Amino acid sequence: MNWLPRPAEGTAWVVPSLLSADFANLQADVADMTAAGADFLHLDVMDGHFVPNISFGPFICRFVRRISDLPLDAHLMISHADQYLAAFAEAGVDGLTIHIEAEAEIGPTLQRIGELGLKRGISLNPGTALDDILPWLDQVDLVLVMSVQPGFGGQKFNPVALDKIAELKQRRAAGGLDFLINVDGGINDQTGAECRAAGADVLVSGSWLFGATDRAERVALLRG
Ligand code: DX5
Ligand code: ZN
Repeated sequence: MNWLPRPAEGTAWVVPSLLSADFANLQADVADMTAAGADFLHLDVMDGHFVPNISFGPFICRFVRRISDLPLDAHLMISHADQYLAAFAEAGVDGLTIHIEAEAEIGPTLQRIGELGLKRGISLNPGTALDDILPWLDQVDLVLVMSVQPGFGGQKFNPVALDKIAELKQRRAAGGLDFLINVDGGINDQTGAECRAAGADVLVSGSWLFGATDRAERVALLRG
């Protein structure tokens, strides 16, 4: 198990989303992002059902595990996630994040993720009220606030995420909880700074980080 605690106040962990990587040169791209300072890797798993796009599953995660020692967080944008948890655990990821909108049985699924020895994450779409995930806050290691509708990289940041991040930070303190607050979608230097100011601990960025000529510079900008 490979993971990181909450970052220093005012800074964030910087997490490339491999959805924007060059899969014909994945090893080189991962090595380059690692040298640039990436703290985790974010693996976007899409099933063409929960979201209108298909990416990859445990098969590819296993190869990423072979080429990287960074903590791997798999963002499961899939229906019936409960059926695939063991396969992702065997593939060697460190955390599994499920969507509140995709799961009938959130409690047992989170519990199973924990039993597999993995970090438990819950995610919510821009249109989903924060209230919907409140019952699970004491049972997760991370909350992934979506700042775009999941399915594709390269979309525009939706500021509805900022209020959710701020409220999560308050509720975490009030409840004596310790989950990481992650944000995903449309993150660049400007939106990343807004998210850090609101209280985000982890910034996931795909197209902006991978599209950089100087990736180390952009990682440093996101870290704050
Ligand atoms: C969207 C994915 C994101 C996406 C981020 O469905 O969950 O992780 O790849 O990409 P950018 O940073 O390009 O919005
Ligand atoms: Zn994602």
